[in-house]
Parts: sequence; C-alpha cells; structure tokens
Amino acid sequence: MTKRSELRTSLPEDLYFYPTFGEEEVEAVSAVIRSGRTTQLSSSVVREFEEAFAGYVGAKEAIAVNSGTAALHTLLIACGIGPDDEVIVPAFTFIGTVGPVLQQGARPVFADIDPDSYCMTAEDTAQKITSWTKAIMPVDIFGHPADLDPLRDVAREHGVLLLEDACQAHGARYKGARVGGLTDAACYSFQESKNMSTAEGGMITTNDPELAERCREIRHQGEKEWGLIESLGYNYRMTAMQAALGIVQLGKLDKANDTRRQIANIYTNALKGLDLQLPKEKSYAWSVFHVYSFLVPKQLASRRDDIVQALKAQRVPAKIDYPWPLYTSPLFKDRSGPFDCPVTEDVCSRVISLPTYQSMSMDIAEKIGAVTHDVLAEFLK
Ligand SMILES: Cc1ncc(COP(=O)(O)O)c(C=O)c1O
Repeated sequence: MTKRSELRTSLPEDLYFYPTFGEEEVEAVSAVIRSGRTTQLSSSVVREFEEAFAGYVGAKEAIAVNSGTAALHTLLIACGIGPDDEVIVPAFTFIGTVGPVLQQGARPVFADIDPDSYCMTAEDTAQKITSWTKAIMPVDIFGHPADLDPLRDVAREHGVLLLEDACQAHGARYKGARVGGLTDAACYSFQESKNMSTAEGGMITTNDPELAERCREIRHQGEKEWGLIESLGYNYRMTAMQAALGIVQLGKLDKANDTRRQIANIYTNALKGLDLQLPKEKSYAWSVFHVYSFLVPKQLASRRDDIVQALKAQRVPAKIDYPWPLYTSPLFKDRSGPFDCPVTEDVCSRVISLPTYQSMSMDIAEKIGAVTHDVLAEFLK
C-alpha cells in the first residue's frame, strides 16, 4: 500500500475547480475576434449558442446573459416579482440564488431541504406558502435535481410559478429528462467552476415564448424595438466570445458530466467503509456531481473544520459548501423569517465537499479518495 507521505507529494495543486478550455475554444474565440463582430447585438453567435442550449436541455427558448445571477434577476423581473412578493428558496445555496430576490425588493422565505439530496422539499415549501408567495425557486444543488413533480403540484395548487435554479446542474436529469424545460423557467451559470463554462455567463430556459421575449428586453435595457423602451432593463448581454466558448463547451458537456460521475464513484468506493453519509442519488435523479459532498457523523460536527484543515494539509482540495444557512449572514439580520430550517442547519454543520472537475485524472481522484479515507479514518477512531 502507498504510504501517506508519497500520496501527499504526488497530489496536484490545491484546486477545488478547474475549467477545461482546449484548442477548440481558443480557435472559436479567435474566430469571433477575427470576424470583428463581438457582441450579441452584432454577431449571430449568441443566438446560435441559445439555440444549441435550448435544444440540449429540451426547452423551446433560451436567453443568454452575462452571469447566472443576471439570469435569475432577469427572470424575476420578467415574472413581475417585486416589493411585497415572497419567493420560497432554500438556505442551503450560494447567495446568487437569493440576491436577485432581494434586488427586486421581494422577500425570500426559506424552506428546508431533503437530508439526502440537500434539495428544497415540497413538504416544507407547502408549509411556508402564504398569499404573498409569487414563486417557488428550488436549487438543483451540487448537480442533483430537486424533486420537481411534487414542487410543481404545490405551485399549481397555489397558483404560483415554479422557477428552477439549475446554475449547478447542466445536463442533470429528472425522471430521465434533462432539467431546463420541466419548470416555468430555469437558470444556469457558466462561471468558471461550473460543469461547462463561458468564463462568466448565464442562460434562462423556458417553454413560454412571451416570458422569453420579456427576458430578452430586460437583458437589453428594456428595449422592445429600436428606441422603444418598454420597461426598465439592464445591460446583461453575453459577448459573442463567451457564446463561442459556450458552443464548444456544450459539445463537451456529456463527457464532462460522465467524468464527474466517475470521480464521484471513485470517492464513494474509497469512503464507503467509513461512518459517513455519502451522496445519495434519488431514484428520480441523474446527478451531474458539480461537487461531491458528504456529511461527517454528528459527534464529529464540532471538529469538521479541523478535518478540512487536515485534508488541506495533505493537499486534498476539500471545502465547506456551505458552512452556514444563508439566513445567518449579516445581510439577513434585520429581515423577518421564517428562518427555521433544521435539516439545513444540520447539513451545514457536517458537510465537506471534494472537487470533481472534469480535467482531473482518475489517478488523482483515486489518490484524493485514498488520502481522504485515511484522514477521516483517524478522526473517526
Ligand atoms: C446555485 C447557484 N445559484 C446562482 C449562482 C450565480 O451564478 P453566477 O456566479 O454565474 O452569477 C451560482 C453560481 O455560482 C450558483 O451556484
């Protein structure tokens, strides 16, 4: 068996994510620059990317923007969400999910998550619906889709929208179908940590052409046609260079997702003998393992940060995704609840994540799995 010290020196740099751009991306971006048509307004490449992405996820429409946050913000504006409205969101997510709700002056209401998938549950969502609720916004966290059918039932019963934050879930499947065309609308991020990247970028997908049209206007200053400003908009446009990156990356996405699933499988095999809660894929789900997250047992929760430090000391790029429920951040200190999400609080106190980026070799994944096993085994003694 390889000794720990040998593993330590053979592990790569401390990288939690690493995008994979090859010569095809360089060539595609160069071609756009050479063409002299570099913006969404002057080039057809953004439209080509939108069509390719809509086709891939199985949605009628796709609207490219310059970040996942811009996608969510544009969508909320297009759905007419504003002051006094409530949007139900999970607290186990990145602030990019909830920031746009606050930017619209609406109130985020936090619903709890499933202890296995870490996705927002329909049960707690139903408990938290009020007459002010305008939308339910689950997150397909770490690439695992939320349980969309029961959430859709709750949304229909109460006449509210089901909007999906799929920023970490490009290519993920729910009951065999790719997410993106299964809800009123979905949003993606192409920031460089994601399963496919345009450096920065985002996309909205929907089957509703009118909603898509409103999103297009908001993305471009609220302009309906030249000189006719329908409403207040933004400059959320994606560049043609980003779209060119996106077209190439989309072509590599299935392979990237397969690689991430293989890496997840290697970690599970390495860790399965230990007293840990390893990622569980629900029977409805095909996860794209944006990251690999496991829970330490409750008795080790108070030592979770020491474990992460011990992993980092062995050059394992471990991270805590996410250390606190969002509502515990100072941003929420003067805002009213409900903030009771006991499963979220428990998961936040015990979660540790490992990287799954698609350029990682299987050899390195094996080593990360082996070192993580050894470090955890020491703490679990
Ligand atoms: C779940 C989630 N929502 C929203 C966002 C925001 O995306 P972006 O960073 O592209 O603005 C991210 C990305 O980091 C995310 O992971």
